[in-house]
Amino acid sequence: MPAPEIRTIGVVGLGSMGTGIAQLAIEAGYETIGREVTDELGQQAHRRVAHFLQRKVDKERMSANDRQSALARLSLTTDLADLADCDLVIEAIVEDLGDKLALFSELDRVVRDDAILATNTSALSVTEIAASVAAPARVVGMHFFNPAPLMPLVEIVRAELSSDEAVEAAYAVGERMGKHPIRCNDTPGFVVNRVLIPLLNDCLRVLDEARVSPDDLDTAMTAGAGWPMGPCTLVDLVGIDVHVHASEALYEKLREPRMAPPPRIVAMKNAGLLGRKSGRGFYTYD
Ligand SMILES: NC(=O)c1ccc[n+]([C@@H]2O[C@H](COP(=O)([O-])OP(=O)(O)OC[C@H]3O[C@@H](n4cnc5c(N)ncnc54)[C@H](O)[C@@H]3O)[C@@H](O)[C@H]2O)c1
Repeated sequence: MPAPEIRTIGVVGLGSMGTGIAQLAIEAGYETIGREVTDELGQQAHRRVAHFLQRKVDKERMSANDRQSALARLSLTTDLADLADCDLVIEAIVEDLGDKLALFSELDRVVRDDAILATNTSALSVTEIAASVAAPARVVGMHFFNPAPLMPLVEIVRAELSSDEAVEAAYAVGERMGKHPIRCNDTPGFVVNRVLIPLLNDCLRVLDEARVSPDDLDTAMTAGAGWPMGPCTLVDLVGIDVHVHASEALYEKLREPRMAPPPRIVAMKNAGLLGRKSGRGFYTYD
């Protein structure tokens, strides 16, 4: 079935990622319906989008009028049935396979047969999620990076049964959102995480092997390898817990020792040293 022209986008789950994706959608001119589990969480997301767009106005990167029109394109609901007329729904709920399967089978009943369903999962199989709907051809991955409004990449993930139309429609949406989309297949970690997670784990193992300080390791990789940010700074920014979880998920699927989180950061996670968000990780933050 040909993919519809995308005019209206549904975003399900307005946490860190969904809020950013909804912002991108309204800025790109799409009518957007955000679905959260409570009105309060929806309102919170709306305030965050309004705040970020205000910052763009303050920096003269957006006019006050454009901000108002963009915000007028965003509506909120707690009722999935309100997504019935969406041409594309992007799911960004918690990273739990059971929750995603339940949501996709519910979405399958609610939206039109020709609507495309996308998941922003980082570590789950898009093919497995797609198996929960009657026509898996309409399911793709749209893997945005955090923070979604600022990170240029979106990985457009082709699952085993995704149709060309669905993949190309998602790609075109990524482009219209001002991103650099790439196409890839549904393999663990897709492209960036498949490469970056074991690489960061290698870096963290070197901390102990070479008995080097986090500061010196960061200097080594920025000054010696041209990285824009050192590995310890990066893992602190991502969140130690998020990195451990992503490493465990990749290790579980690929069984390559480099994927497994080094014991040092598992201990940090267990001690509540989560990086920037908890005030302490490899470094201390105010
Ligand atoms: N945080 C990242 O760095 C990052 C990067 C890329 C992809 N992802 C992926 O994006 C997804 C969301 O991650 P996040 O960090 O934004 O999580 P988050 O915990 O910040 O947000 C998830 C939101 O989903 C809501 N939710 C849960 N079930 C729902 C449902 N059935 N309907 C509507 N809303 C529901 C929750 O209330 C919460 O607000 C996950 O699959 C994650 O793997 C995260």
